[in-house]
Amino acid sequence: MSEATKKRVAVLISGRGSNMASLIEAAKEPGYPAEIVVVGSNRPDAAGLEAAKEAGLQTFAIDHKEFGKDRAAFDSALSAELKKHDVELVVLAGFMRLLTPGFTEEWEGRLINIHPALLPSFPGLNTHARALETGVKLHGATAHFVTSEMDVGPIIMQGAVPVLDDDSEQTLAARVLEVEHQIYPEALALVAAERTEINGMRVTVVGSDDLDDDLIAPTV
Ligand code: GAR
Repeated sequence: MSEATKKRVAVLISGRGSNMASLIEAAKEPGYPAEIVVVGSNRPDAAGLEAAKEAGLQTFAIDHKEFGKDRAAFDSALSAELKKHDVELVVLAGFMRLLTPGFTEEWEGRLINIHPALLPSFPGLNTHARALETGVKLHGATAHFVTSEMDVGPIIMQGAVPVLDDDSEQTLAARVLEVEHQIYPEALALVAAERTEINGMRVTVVGSDDLDDDLIAPTV
């Protein structure tokens, strides 16, 4: 696929950036329909920014602390920066910042997130501890379009893992993270290739290409 037809993607992170790394790796594939043109963070010290630079990518940081409580001003600055890079899709990868409706509406249909739980179970933080506390036998990760409500939005893809009797929060988190790294590049590929259709809360995959169909089905 030529660079000209690939979707221009920004990845936004707040921390270590392991999901970002899996997206960077996937995007190296010549047939991958997205090109990561920039990695941004609300934390100038995010470890993932260094990794992105080492991978030869452009980066930016907009420190949310400089905006105090003014979330809308932070979001406007973020949006302006994304536009400078002619970004077509915005991919949240451990971006731990609530976005205002102004931002989510502006980027609606072009903004996706990965969440470490099988939504609509366990939105918000501490998902692995809550999965253990409630005794669910399956846990996992969800790639979804972002709407103005946190961790609610049309689901593109989910991957499930078993919860084992001897799991700790850490072992469960590690098992889920593997699934995140598997489904997020696949979900981005579907969106970038314009193979997702949103009808209310349902996303259907249309058309066909050479994506691995095993990965499009839930991985249980
Ligand atoms: C990931 O587990 C991601 O799903 C989660 O933060 C972690 C970031 O790790 N995101 C959320 O909880 C968003 N609600 P990473 O920086 O190594 O990708």
